[in-house]
Amino acid sequence: MSVHVAQTAEALAERAADRLVSLIAEEVTRSGSCAVALCGGTTPGPILQRVARASLPWARLRWYFADERCVPPDDPQSNYRGAKEALFDRAPIPPESIFRMEGEREDRDQAAVDYARGLPERIHLALLGIGEDGHFASVFPGSPLVDEAVRPVVAVYGPKPPPWRLTLTPAALNGTRVLMVASGAGKAAAVRRALQGNEAAAIVPSRLWRAHEWVLDQAAASELKDPK
Ligand code: 6PG
Repeated sequence: MSVHVAQTAEALAERAADRLVSLIAEEVTRSGSCAVALCGGTTPGPILQRVARASLPWARLRWYFADERCVPPDDPQSNYRGAKEALFDRAPIPPESIFRMEGEREDRDQAAVDYARGLPERIHLALLGIGEDGHFASVFPGSPLVDEAVRPVVAVYGPKPPPWRLTLTPAALNGTRVLMVASGAGKAAAVRRALQGNEAAAIVPSRLWRAHEWVLDQAAASELKDPK
């Protein structure tokens, strides 16, 4: 487990961007390419804007999504739109290296199956946020998806609006290095429960990533005992 506590939300974005860039460069050096899955929500924006300014072998990278809301890609709630505005439109990223979840399709289950077909053998890195209830991507507390070992992508009806989403499941993140990011006091309880609590991952799904790398700001880390 690695927990970095940044002084402010801005410092969190700097640190998380630096870490993501380093991990990407490391993987490209190791294997020649890097597949990255991006979460949605509000936390990634400032991080991805900084990543866009980095010097990376853009043509060797492939961009996937950890989850997507079932809305059109130009909808303000679309995670694709968020990543496009923060990163894809700001860096020399070939459009063919961006793999969008087609959440807008009527047949959500087929959209999930089709996205799974396009996944790489391994998603090397995932940038994931945590919900105040402890969810990651669109794997929510009490969902059987927390134990999903077969289907890499699933359509799910969840408690966070908009309710219908496509989400990666743990089956898609096997062997993935996860960078968890959390900002704000609203996340403090979920962060504590995920990192230091003894509740099962079924109750706190982000606990699955306890052993991975976390970047927090002070407010999100405020309920941790002795954050390293
Ligand atoms: C989504 C996200 C979701 C998000 C957390 C944190 O599509 O809603 O993927 O898992 O990462 O809910 O959201 P915030 O960054 O907005 O707090």
